[in-house]
Amino acid sequence: MFKSLKLKLAAQFLVLSLVVYAAMTALGVYIFHRGLTELLDDRLALLTASMAPSVKYDKSGLHMNELLKPLKIASAYLTPTVQIYDADRKLVIAYGPPGVEQLLPPNSEVNFEEGTLRTYCQSIIEKGQTVGYLQVELSTDHREKAISEFIEALSVLAPLLILAFSLSGYWFSSWAIKPIEETFKLLQRFIADAGHELKTPIAIIQATCENLAADLESNAQAQHRLAVIERSTERMQKLVADLLTLTKAKQPRLAQHISHLRLDVILQDALNEMSELFEDKQVSLRAETIQTAKLLGDRDSLHRVITNLLENALHYTDTGGTVTVGLQSGLNNITLKISDTGIGMPAESLDKIFDRFYRVDESRSRAAGGSGLGLSIVKAIIEAHHGNITVQSSPGKGSTFTVIFPVLGQSTFFRQAPKPSA
Ligand SMILES: Nc1ncnc2c1ncn2[C@@H]1O[C@H](COP(=O)(O)OP(=O)(O)OP(=O)(O)O)[C@@H](O)[C@H]1O
Ligand SMILES: [Mg+2]
Repeated sequence: MFKSLKLKLAAQFLVLSLVVYAAMTALGVYIFHRGLTELLDDRLALLTASMAPSVKYDKSGLHMNELLKPLKIASAYLTPTVQIYDADRKLVIAYGPPGVEQLLPPNSEVNFEEGTLRTYCQSIIEKGQTVGYLQVELSTDHREKAISEFIEALSVLAPLLILAFSLSGYWFSSWAIKPIEETFKLLQRFIADAGHELKTPIAIIQATCENLAADLESNAQAQHRLAVIERSTERMQKLVADLLTLTKAKQPRLAQHISHLRLDVILQDALNEMSELFEDKQVSLRAETIQTAKLLGDRDSLHRVITNLLENALHYTDTGGTVTVGLQSGLNNITLKISDTGIGMPAESLDKIFDRFYRVDESRSRAAGGSGLGLSIVKAIIEAHHGNITVQSSPGKGSTFTVIFPVLGQSTFFRQAPKPSA
C-alpha cells in the first residue's frame, strides 16, 4: 500500500518537476532570444550610424563613398545588406548580399526566400531636408543557430534530469511517508492488540449472559455469573479508559491542569485508598520517610502514577510480601520510590515494560486483569512533568521503581517541551 503511494507521489513529483523544467526552458529560450535580438539591433544601429557619413547627395543624386571600410568592419561579424532609398522611398543603390527591397521602420524583422532579416534605417539629411534613407539589413541566422544550440544542450540534459528527478522524487516521497507509515503500523498493532484484549471479556459476557438466562431460577448460580459479568465489564472499562488516555498521551495533555501541589499529600491519599486492598491480599504496605514535596503538576495524573505503581506492586507480590514507599525532596529533585518483595522481572524485560501491551508473564498479568498499558501511561505522565522513571528488579526478589521529578518554576515548566512519550 505504501509502496504504491510512494511510487504515485514520486511520479507526481516527476511530472511537476518536468512541467517546471519545461516552463523554465521556455522562459530561458525567450530571454536568450530577446537578448540576442537586442544585440543584433545594437549592431545594426552602429553599422548604420558608421555608414551614414559615406552617403553623399549632389545634383546627380545619392552616392556612397568609402563603402568598403565599414563593410570590411562589418564582414568580420556578418556581411550586411546596405540599401539607399531616395526621398520617395525608391531603392536607388544596393550593396552586399540580396535583401528585402523595401524601406521598413527601424528594428523590423522580415522573412524572405534566403531566410530572415532584421533591418535598421536612418534618414539622410542634406541642408535640413530629408533627401533619402540608408537601410542596413542583417541575417538572423547567427541568432537562430545560437538558440537551437541552447535548446539542444537542454534536451541533452533532459534524460539526466528525468533520472535525477525520478530518484530524488522517490527518495523525497519515502522520506515524507515514513512518519505516516510508522504511525499507521503503530495504529494497526494498537488496534490488533486492543481487539485481542477485548475479545476474551466480550466472549465471557456473552456466554455468561446466555447461561444466566437459563439459570434465572437458581439464584445462587445467577449471583455468581453476575459477578463474572461485572469483573469482565470492569476489565473492558479499564482497557477503554487506558486506550483513551493513550490516544491523548502523544499530546502533552497529561499535564493539563497544572497547579502548585504537594506530592506527599497525593501519595498519602493514594496509600489510604489502597490500604484495604493490601490488607485483603495480606501484603504489608509500609511508608518509609515521606518528606514534604512541593511541585508543579496535574493532581489527577500524578495520583494515577502512584496508584498504577502501587497496583503493580500489589499484583506482582504474593501474600506475605511487603511493599515499601518513600518520598524524598531535595533542592532540585523529588524522588519517589516504590519497592516490593514480589516476583521481580528478568533483566531483558526491564526496557520493554514501559511499552504498550507488554507483559512479562502474560498468564499472571492477565489473571490480575492487566492489559500491559499501565506503565506506558505512567511513563507518559511522568515525561509530561519533565521527570523520568527507572526500574531495578531481580526475579524472585522484587522490584524498585524510582521516579524523579525536577523542581521547576512555572516559566521553565511551560517553556520546556515534554519529552516524547513511549
Ligand atoms: N512491581 C512489579 N513486579 C513485577 N513485575 C512487574 C511489576 N510492575 C510491572 N511488572 C511487569 O510489567 C508488565 C507491564 O506492567 P503494566 O502495569 O504496564 O501492565 P499490567 O500491569 O500487565 O496491566 P495494566 O495495564 O492493567 O497495568 C506487567 O505485565 C508485569 O509483567
Ligand atoms: Mg499495571
